[in-house]
Amino acid sequence: MVNIGLLGLGTVGSGVVEILDKRKEKLKGLTGHDIRIKKVLVNDSSKKRKLDPEIELVLDFDEILHDEEISIIVEVTGDVENSYKYISQGLKAGKNIVTANKAVVSKYFEEFSALAKEKDLAFLYEASVAGGIPVLKPLKEQLLLNEVSQVQGILNGTCNYILSRMIDEGKNYHDILKSAQDMGYAEADPTADVDGIDTMRKLRILATLSLQGKINEEDIFMDGISSITSFDIEVIKKMNSTVKLIGEAKSYKDGFTAVVQPTIVPRDNYFANVNLAHNSVAFNGSEVGELKFYGPGAGKLPTGNAVLSDVLDIVTKTYKKNNPLGTAELKNYNHEIKGRYYLRVSDADDNIVRSLRRISEEMPSNKGQVAIITNEIGLMEIKDLLDSLNIEKGRYFLGRILD
Ligand SMILES: NC(=O)c1ccc[n+]([C@@H]2O[C@H](COP(=O)([O-])OP(=O)(O)OC[C@H]3O[C@@H](n4cnc5c(N)ncnc54)[C@H](OP(=O)(O)O)[C@@H]3O)[C@@H](O)[C@H]2O)c1
Repeated sequence: MVNIGLLGLGTVGSGVVEILDKRKEKLKGLTGHDIRIKKVLVNDSSKKRKLDPEIELVLDFDEILHDEEISIIVEVTGDVENSYKYISQGLKAGKNIVTANKAVVSKYFEEFSALAKEKDLAFLYEASVAGGIPVLKPLKEQLLLNEVSQVQGILNGTCNYILSRMIDEGKNYHDILKSAQDMGYAEADPTADVDGIDTMRKLRILATLSLQGKINEEDIFMDGISSITSFDIEVIKKMNSTVKLIGEAKSYKDGFTAVVQPTIVPRDNYFANVNLAHNSVAFNGSEVGELKFYGPGAGKLPTGNAVLSDVLDIVTKTYKKNNPLGTAELKNYNHEIKGRYYLRVSDADDNIVRSLRRISEEMPSNKGQVAIITNEIGLMEIKDLLDSLNIEKGRYFLGRILD
């Protein structure tokens, strides 16, 4: 018998319970083990829940931590500080860990990985990046034979949903965000998604694994989508392009560049066809070439499925026991990033128009919004220009143009 302590019974936790219940007999046949959830930790004891009476609902983590029959803790709470405690105490107490919580993995990646190695336990987090898409396991496998030089992805379903609908329907950002919230595609507080924080955390995990050196959250240049206007969408469509929030890390000289940025993608580019709540990740290996992964970036069953794949790797002892993080000392070269950019500024006075005209002659405009499409220029040069003109976040939209 393999006993699991499940932390959290929300969207992902209930997906884990549902799939495990459905596949119980099959899994027993395939693995030779009865795999069951013994206890579930939740916050609120007053909520009505449909749960097999054999599963014990608990409000105190210690009841899972000190239960010697529980060998695997599945953490799907979303709480960062408490889950740090759950994961580190769990590993110290000899429990294998599976989590979907990108915020906590991103924040404590090195610490958890080292602790798991020291204790000879599993620390697996497939569902933390790109939800239902199995990408971390293949990436870790390919790292044994390949140098990975680049990883890119559409990693946030909420942003991709909003941008896809803005392009298709021509409606403004706030209307689409409201409708996304009503339909459950966006949180009531969408900041972590639309400001790029969620994508940045996933890129931090992907980049650290791919480039085999520590790339911190603060090392990643981050811009979100919340300032995009219908005018931007019109101009982008006239460029025969679409717009996506893309996270990208590349090896560069003796270090790396890492950005999360709205990206203007030609219609015939692969990423242009990753729409609505879908995610995609692509990475380049020295031997295997470019690999692309596409699928559901979230959702009860896809994410529950990813969590359970990790559980099965523990039960069948097929997970890699080495610490997958590399030890390369990588320098940050974001200050050398160059590219072509689309930049739109609202309420642009004559001084702003004159300054922008110095970078580009091409200047579509509408009702105080002026935009430029640059030739190759440094990303930091544009950021410095915006700062020197006192153009604060919210008054401009900057997108890298993918050629
Ligand atoms: N939703 C997705 O599709 C998806 C996809 C990929 C990754 N993830 C990640 O998976 C995690 C869970 O997401 P979710 O959407 O399932 O969240 P959710 O629906 O909000 O559920 C959270 C669950 O955790 C419980 N909980 C919260 N804080 C807790 C604490 N401190 N101690 C004990 N229990 C606590 C809640 O208890 P109550 O029920 O008592 O309130 C609830 O059952 C997050 O890290 C998220 O980023 C989610």
